[in-house]
Amino acid sequence: MALSSKGTALITGASSGIGAVYADRLARQGYDLILVARSQAKLNALANHLSNETGRVVEVVAADLKDKADVLRVEAILRSDARITLLVNNAGVGAVMPLLASPVDDMEGIRIQAVLPGATATDFWSEAGNPVENLPQEIVMSAEDMVDAALVGLASGEVVTLPGLHDGDQWDAYEVQRQALSGLFGNSTAAPRYR
Ligand SMILES: NC(=O)c1ccc[n+]([C@@H]2O[C@H](COP(=O)([O-])OP(=O)(O)OC[C@H]3O[C@@H](n4cnc5c(N)ncnc54)[C@H](OP(=O)(O)O)[C@@H]3O)[C@@H](O)[C@H]2O)c1
Repeated sequence: MALSSKGTALITGASSGIGAVYADRLARQGYDLILVARSQAKLNALANHLSNETGRVVEVVAADLKDKADVLRVEAILRSDARITLLVNNAGVGAVMPLLASPVDDMEGIRIQAVLPGATATDFWSEAGNPVENLPQEIVMSAEDMVDAALVGLASGEVVTLPGLHDGDQWDAYEVQRQALSGLFGNSTAAPRYR
């Protein structure tokens, strides 16, 4: 029996790798899906598979997020589709909506989580010219384990999630140091090393 819907998750870069695992996990958690990537054929195959497996509504949008017109098309969906409750902006690092153009009222109850994966076993590596098999396997996490950890971080309210960092105190210490450093930026003279 299908779970009651948690709304719709729009996932960019959803046709393979990390995005496809997010699609699988979120459908199983009760989200309907809008899957975005360039390959219509891959998106259709995944959508059919996930809707058969989970009973969720899965729609696809073929879009190249390097193409401005396609970015605007996805932006329009995000602006107008009130079913969307979650954006997994997984394809690259570009924002699909300028932050300063967003009405403050519409931004409230929004939560942002930055997921910082280490090396993750996907096609990303072979496409970059160095297959993941060439890396020391002790630093490579499966996409399934990475996404499962990220979703635990999301559920626990984390803003920054580092799935591979075992000692979370190290991140907390880094954050304390980063904030202390930001208090030292203001100075009427440039540092001697820049003179
Ligand atoms: N794997 C890692 O070790 C690792 C580590 C840190 C961060 N990341 C980040 O994680 C994210 C996902 O990477 P991945 O490892 O899952 O890579 P992947 O397996 O190569 O998957 C990339 C996904 O993005 C889609 N895509 C690529 N270019 C696109 C474009 N111009 N417009 C729309 N969709 C596009 C691809 O589908 P189509 O080809 O059909 O468009 C595919 O669904 C990336 O932002 C990457 O920088 C990965």
